[in-house]
Amino acid sequence: MTIRINFNGEICEDAHISVFDHGFLFGDSVYEVISTYKGHLCFAQEHLDRLRNSARSISLEIPLSDDQFFTEIDKTIKAAGNAESYIRIIVTRGVGEIDIDPETCIRPNVLIIVKPIAKYSEENYINGINVALVSVKRNPKEALNPGIKTGNYLNNVLAKMEARKSGAADALMLNPSGQLTECTTSNFFFIRDQRLMTPSLNCGILSGITRDVVLRLARENGILVEEGEWPAEVLQNADESFITGTVKMVMPVTSLDGRPIGNGKPGPITKMLMRLYKDVLATL
Ligand code: PDD
Repeated sequence: MTIRINFNGEICEDAHISVFDHGFLFGDSVYEVISTYKGHLCFAQEHLDRLRNSARSISLEIPLSDDQFFTEIDKTIKAAGNAESYIRIIVTRGVGEIDIDPETCIRPNVLIIVKPIAKYSEENYINGINVALVSVKRNPKEALNPGIKTGNYLNNVLAKMEARKSGAADALMLNPSGQLTECTTSNFFFIRDQRLMTPSLNCGILSGITRDVVLRLARENGILVEEGEWPAEVLQNADESFITGTVKMVMPVTSLDGRPIGNGKPGPITKMLMRLYKDVLATL
């Protein structure tokens, strides 16, 4: 397993960030996770676009052009030399005074961490996972908008810890109005009466790149899609469920708080979207 880190253009085996970097002190940073599939970068442009949107939302200037990013990502992947890569791009506010105000931070730090992809167990895809509906609420849009992918993930960390305590693989969070949102590092979907349903962006979620592709695939294949605002009770009548994310792709959820969803097995629409999504990755 080879890890290489690109720290402001320099490739290292290990990198050290200053304790005065506001990314470390305040979670004042943005990030993206990109993966490869059969050696190709998946949706890299979409991830770079979202990184820029996140940075713009927190008034952080990214010092690299897209072309420069592609060059640096390529350089780091080659240096690591793994068959399949997990690529994490982090742009921090940079070093400054220990003061919440970022105005003393001179220059953002850009890190690209490349490591082998830690694939999820095949068993998860065959049987699905158990997700817990946790008491920790997703940050409201008006506080730290979940649509901005910042390095401040404490909300999700707390939700994950709560889920783990109950033996669940992941946590499903509600927003403060009691509407379904998303899981700790993935978007949430369910199927009811042949309809694919997912919380709308308005509920306060990350606009997932995998989510977008899955919604497009569903529409192209004649599945009715609904993006909406629902309380957790709606899941009592769900027939199927799954979550999506860059590394996990489409992963079936077969129980909620230990109670089976539908017949407790990955359903036909979930399986179809799992297959279609992999087909898309194979053609990139
Ligand atoms: N997480 N929601 C949250 C809160 C996320 O952190 C992520 C991604 C997603 C799915 O987005 P996408 O399909 O673009 O990967 C949804 C990445 C993978 C992570 O933090 O590791």
